[in-house]
Amino acid sequence: MKNRQKQSPIYHHPLMENNITRDDLNTLIEYLSSEDPKLTQGAKVLEFEAKWSEWLGVKHSVYVNSGSSANLITMAVVRELYGSGEIIVPPLTWVSDIAACLQNGFRPIFADIDPRTLALNVETVIEKISHKTKAVFLTHVQGFNGLTNRMLAELEKRDIPLIEDVCESHGAVFRQKKLGTFGIMSNFSFYYAHHMSTIEGGMVCTDNEEIYQLLRMFRSHGMVRESSSDAIQKKYARETNALNPDFIFAFPAYNVRGTELGAVIGLNQLKRLDKNNRKRVQNNKLFLNALDSQRFRTDFDLQGSCNYAFNVILNEPNIRLRDDVELALNQNGIEHRRGSSGGGNQIRQPYLREYVDYGLWESFPEVEHIHHFGWYIGNFPSLEQKTILNIADVLNNA
Ligand SMILES: Cc1ncc(COP(=O)(O)O)c(C=O)c1O
Repeated sequence: MKNRQKQSPIYHHPLMENNITRDDLNTLIEYLSSEDPKLTQGAKVLEFEAKWSEWLGVKHSVYVNSGSSANLITMAVVRELYGSGEIIVPPLTWVSDIAACLQNGFRPIFADIDPRTLALNVETVIEKISHKTKAVFLTHVQGFNGLTNRMLAELEKRDIPLIEDVCESHGAVFRQKKLGTFGIMSNFSFYYAHHMSTIEGGMVCTDNEEIYQLLRMFRSHGMVRESSSDAIQKKYARETNALNPDFIFAFPAYNVRGTELGAVIGLNQLKRLDKNNRKRVQNNKLFLNALDSQRFRTDFDLQGSCNYAFNVILNEPNIRLRDDVELALNQNGIEHRRGSSGGGNQIRQPYLREYVDYGLWESFPEVEHIHHFGWYIGNFPSLEQKTILNIADVLNNA
């Protein structure tokens, strides 16, 4: 290891801090102190869904118990609407995006990413489109906007539905609209490490009424009475007149409902999301300006981005420098994740062994670079300038 310039040690910089505040807990306690509070999914969930839809700019939102569950029922609905086939996905995403495809009988087809946004690169997507393609499932990675005019135009031209995974990018925008309003469905996660939290939780959002009704049913055992449409309820009741209308199961689905407790926290969190996000954007700019661009990538496409993480990616595939950086992060107590979102190249993971040829991961050089030479570290609203500069210093001098 090189001689490092002496700086004040940080000791403890976690991936996330203060994401559920005393104020959230007090709001929850107040709710629990009310007379006979309901805990299972009810009015608070509906209120949270309505407020979320208003904040995002969509007609409908369906609250579920995690972002992975959002992925799961989204792909179940794609299957229901379009039948089985192929879904184009990035190898840089979370396991559940790809697992949701497999669990619903789809073949995931991988395409490489754009190094400036870390999201699917439109040219590689076009190469992978075939008559079997049912959708493109794009992940907006770590707060960057992954959409381009060309991506939207090419998909529209070919009539291929776009699904957006916005689990890591709440509040990021493209063309003055929030991410999650462009696809036929979009997914959010409210896990602790993300922009806002309901402890665990997720949301599926859509403007489409038919999709909304399917999502409501898929969230809750495939039960017809979970649909809020009279027409759907009457149709099934007519077709299945030997069944109790309370117990008609239209699909072999799941139970991925959230609780009132999560919704109460979510409603309170939503009030400060925009303010928190403005601070995150400032933090990220400060961090990237302080980072040594000779050694790290600093030329991300930041337009519309809103990062809950600082992305630290070496310019060159230099293993010695990689190890020095990792050592410096460890010695300074800076929590980090190599491989950025989800541990890097998903194609290398054991769960995909039976689905892909050995070594396929090599065909995705941009993702491979992140896998070996990229990390993320935490960016949260309470971070002070001096800590951000200190972190950059540690990295620059590693
Ligand atoms: C891109 C992406 N999709 C889906 C998920 C799953 O969300 P959850 O952890 O809430 O299940 C995550 C979680 O980190 C994620 O980063």
